[in-house]
Amino acid sequence: KLLDERHWTQLAPALEEAREEVFRDIELFNSGGDVPEEKQPLDAGFIEYPRRLLDGAEDALLDRMNESANTLRGDLDHLVLLGIGGSYMGMRALFEALCHPYHNLLDRDERRGMPRLYFEGNNLDNDTARGLLELLRLHCRDKDDLNQRWGIVVISKSGGTLETAAAFRIFREALEQYYGPDSEESRRFVVPITGETGKLRSFSEQRGYGTTFPVPDGIGGRFSVFTPVGLYPAAVLGIDIAELLRGADAMTEAFRSAPVGENPVLDYVATSHLFERECGMTTRILSTWGNRLEACGLWYDQLLAESLGKQEQGATPLTVVNTRDLHSRGQQHQEGTRDKLITNVIVEQPSSRPLPVPTVEEQLNQDQLNRLEGKPLPQLLDAAIQGTNRAYAEDQRPTADLLLPSLDAHTVGQLLQMMMLATVVEGRLIGINPYGQPGVEAYKRNMGEILDGG
Ligand code: PA5
Repeated sequence: KLLDERHWTQLAPALEEAREEVFRDIELFNSGGDVPEEKQPLDAGFIEYPRRLLDGAEDALLDRMNESANTLRGDLDHLVLLGIGGSYMGMRALFEALCHPYHNLLDRDERRGMPRLYFEGNNLDNDTARGLLELLRLHCRDKDDLNQRWGIVVISKSGGTLETAAAFRIFREALEQYYGPDSEESRRFVVPITGETGKLRSFSEQRGYGTTFPVPDGIGGRFSVFTPVGLYPAAVLGIDIAELLRGADAMTEAFRSAPVGENPVLDYVATSHLFERECGMTTRILSTWGNRLEACGLWYDQLLAESLGKQEQGATPLTVVNTRDLHSRGQQHQEGTRDKLITNVIVEQPSSRPLPVPTVEEQLNQDQLNRLEGKPLPQLLDAAIQGTNRAYAEDQRPTADLLLPSLDAHTVGQLLQMMMLATVVEGRLIGINPYGQPGVEAYKRNMGEILDGG
């Protein structure tokens, strides 16, 4: 037995205190009062933002996003999303979890009129940037044909992130060449999402882009998935953004009111924290069961690493996709060093009709699969989950399960909000400010000096 009930009971008061601190943070944030130095930045705005948007705040921002998204989607067949880190990973998570797995390969009708989506500006990769420009050149030759029109959503809170800014120049140049530099399309088909002030904001004003959306002050990049950063492109892709917000808001309410032991946020923090503190499990494996959850895992990797990887502390996150990675990392998780806590993310009901393994004539049964008698893939997956958990348990390797009844906008809203809340609670519990990322500045500074000849 690695831990027993006593450990959870003893941790409960500290967890309650961490939750209260998070709500004191919100009060302080809402009051606009002076924030003590050790709490700066205090980007607690994400916690109540879903409710605020649902209540019509920010000048009915939710409606405005939906309306603009409807228009843009009716005008374009290819959308290039430029952004990095928190300005990219949330939308990628939503896209992979909630859109058709082969979305970009479908015809426009099969995509129900939603544009294809491409991500760029999240690296300095010449080959992918060139590859996308080439693809757009090959597929977009007649700007008057709806199926051949493309546009850009550029997301950068600061407006000063080199990867995104460089990509924006490159893709903007291509767009202006396509539609003509002074055409109204070259303005209409660029939608910047940025802070209230900053380089991209002032450029957008100067260039006369008609549609822009804000990245609110007080919400940091990796906590911004339920602001226009994630919501606007999600709306363009036809994702039900109000339902995402309802899911997120429901999680905030559960976090606010449910006691330890019935509170998904606090219980997740307790499990992760106790296994790290008591058993030295400093690697947190997020074991996603299904390809569509991989990008949610990568989004979480950033959230945990950038929020708590400070002052020589913070667990190391690692996302795996099973059963795929049982055939790669599985060996190490079963028999390697005992520093790993495995949290499964399991979707209970598939979103599509179960696909049975066909039964074949006996002389073609070399693979012996007839014994499965047409069992569907979800049943095979379930056996893999149970079999894996059992194998870990037999070797005293702990696992926890996060169960999603289905994969839809509501449950994804709940899941992502739960992880953001858990991250800030854990930060308060271990005395690390979860907001801000001072360490990221070091490489940027050096890179700037090198490029400037320093
Ligand atoms: O979490 C964060 O704050 C970062 O990952 C940022 O989102 C990332 O660096 C991009 O910043 P910006 O939106 O200012 O371009």
